[in-house]
Amino acid sequence: MDRVRLAIVGCGNISQLNAPGYLRHPRCEVVALCDTEPQRAERRAREWGITPRVYSDLKQVLEDSAVDAVELLTPTWMHADQIVAALAAGKHVSCQKPLAITLAEADRIADAVARARTTFRVTENFLYYPPIVKAKELLDAGVIGEPSLVRIHTTRAVNITGGGMELDPDAMVWRRDRGRNPGGPLYDDGVHKYATAALWIGEIGDISAIVSHGADFLAETPAAAMWRFKGRDCLGIIDYTASPEMTIRARYYKADEFFEIHGSRGIIWVTRCTGEMLDMPAVVLLRGTETVSYQVPADWRLGFDGAAADFVDSLIAGRQPAQDVSTAKHILSVPLAIYEAARIGRPVAPAPLG
Ligand SMILES: NC(=O)c1ccc[n+]([C@@H]2O[C@H](COP(=O)([O-])OP(=O)(O)OC[C@H]3O[C@@H](n4cnc5c(N)ncnc54)[C@H](O)[C@@H]3O)[C@@H](O)[C@H]2O)c1
Repeated sequence: MDRVRLAIVGCGNISQLNAPGYLRHPRCEVVALCDTEPQRAERRAREWGITPRVYSDLKQVLEDSAVDAVELLTPTWMHADQIVAALAAGKHVSCQKPLAITLAEADRIADAVARARTTFRVTENFLYYPPIVKAKELLDAGVIGEPSLVRIHTTRAVNITGGGMELDPDAMVWRRDRGRNPGGPLYDDGVHKYATAALWIGEIGDISAIVSHGADFLAETPAAAMWRFKGRDCLGIIDYTASPEMTIRARYYKADEFFEIHGSRGIIWVTRCTGEMLDMPAVVLLRGTETVSYQVPADWRLGFDGAAADFVDSLIAGRQPAQDVSTAKHILSVPLAIYEAARIGRPVAPAPLG
């Protein structure tokens, strides 16, 4: 394969960030768009300046022999059936996080991946966001010595200074369906952050957690979870708060996050992801009396562009792109373990890696 002919399935909110990396890749052609609301696909085609085939049913995409690969950007509860069908049809599959809504579905997907002759990966844009990649480079170079703690904080806001992304409220309809959506930000957003922690340090071990639930099951703030990384003398802590009366600087979502990685010789901060809440360089290294700033590119969309490029480049090179199904199952199991740990008041083990 020297070019990838891609179909984007699901032309809702996240397609705005997900598609540009494919559209600009010189060896990728977006040949088809599919949405059960085809006017959404037609609108995206106009916005993106392309003239793809427009389908309203995934089956039509899977029957199109001029489609090599699909990028699934559909509601999460549909992922398992769609991944299995697309692999069975001989397509390469990239699917937005989270992998699925249950571990049983993750196992069904893993079986389909094991049978498939094509490639599967979960699109995890955090793994390609330049400040997160820079922190990984610094860690791997031993710049902060032996890591002892990773802390990941998320502030959720109601008001942001930027215009924000145009978000269709329909995206909240399936998220509010408790039968089809296991939780709020600790699941839907948290998977990015557990994936980041696992990228930096490794497999996540037994988890303890406190999760607050107000009237709105999607609110989940304040919440905190902690764990020890398997085989490492290093803890992970993730916490979520809401600051509804504070306007934060952000251009995409109504949230921002910062990360701390503490080590025996220093501390790394990654100070921005979806927003620009902290008026600081994107990556800061503290080494005793010395502070080093890294002005790495920090537009949030770059992570999506990197994820798109890696999928296309991996298919052409015949290698497995991140995030493979085993890692994606481990990462999915983390929020499910957090909810269970919070419910029973005892530590819960996530699914092991591999
Ligand atoms: N990486 C990120 O930062 C990020 C952010 C938001 C959402 N997501 C993930 O992306 C996925 C989509 O989320 P969203 O917020 O864009 O949702 P959305 O509801 O805005 O978009 C989903 C789209 O899929 C279409 N659709 C529904 N059923 C379909 C079917 N059977 N075939 C084809 N199209 C169908 C809908 O009409 C809609 O246009 C979810 O898994 C979500 O977790 C990832």
